Amino acid sequence: MSPSYDEHYAAGGFKYSAAQREWLKREVIDAFGLRACESVLDAGCGDGFWTGLLQSEGLRAMGIDYSAVGIRAATESFPDADFIQADLEKPLQLQRTFGAVFVRNLSHLLRADLAPAVPVLANLVNAVRDNGVLMVVQYSHRDGSIRGTAVNHPLSGYVQLVERVADIDIVKVVADYVLIHSRVDHEPR
Ligand SMILES: C[S@@+](CC[C@H](N)C(=O)[O-])C[C@H]1O[C@@H](n2cnc3c(N)ncnc32)[C@H](O)[C@@H]1O
Repeated sequence: MSPSYDEHYAAGGFKYSAAQREWLKREVIDAFGLRACESVLDAGCGDGFWTGLLQSEGLRAMGIDYSAVGIRAATESFPDADFIQADLEKPLQLQRTFGAVFVRNLSHLLRADLAPAVPVLANLVNAVRDNGVLMVVQYSHRDGSIRGTAVNHPLSGYVQLVERVADIDIVKVVADYVLIHSRVDHEPR
């Protein structure tokens, strides 16, 4: 279903460093008080690096991705977290909601056309419990440039995208990351 990401994770994945781990802990988990959400769904979790971190920081974490190889690696590396293979473009059959949904560099937010990301994020908002959080963490130089196949959209691109599905309450730029925190109440908007 996802040959390129299967190959990528079979070859060892993104090989994140301990510094990136510390960065996420400081700038996202601590800065936005994510531990209070208690449970988290890591959407597009790949081989589970960030899911494992969220779990080790005290959240009950589940990762979801459509790469079978990524999910297998995640399950082996982080046995305390839960992982499922599923396509985020289809309605999710999760049987539960989460205090937070965490979306870091999901493929749909790397593409030139962000419109197809709207239904995906809408699916994910449905997985957030009432008064929970949608947390988007997106790497971008914000200058419209392209690195490989990934587009560095301006801040406004991500804000306009997330605004389509949730009420944003905090937008932060930290170095080359756009951080968008939305509180989800499921009231008609
Ligand atoms: C750039 S990677 C980011 C992985 C991870 N979130 C991170 O920050 O390292 C994008 C991920 O989105 C996943 N993905 C892309 N389309 C998907 C879909 N329709 N359903 C589920 N996962 C998808 C890919 O398999 C891949 O693991």
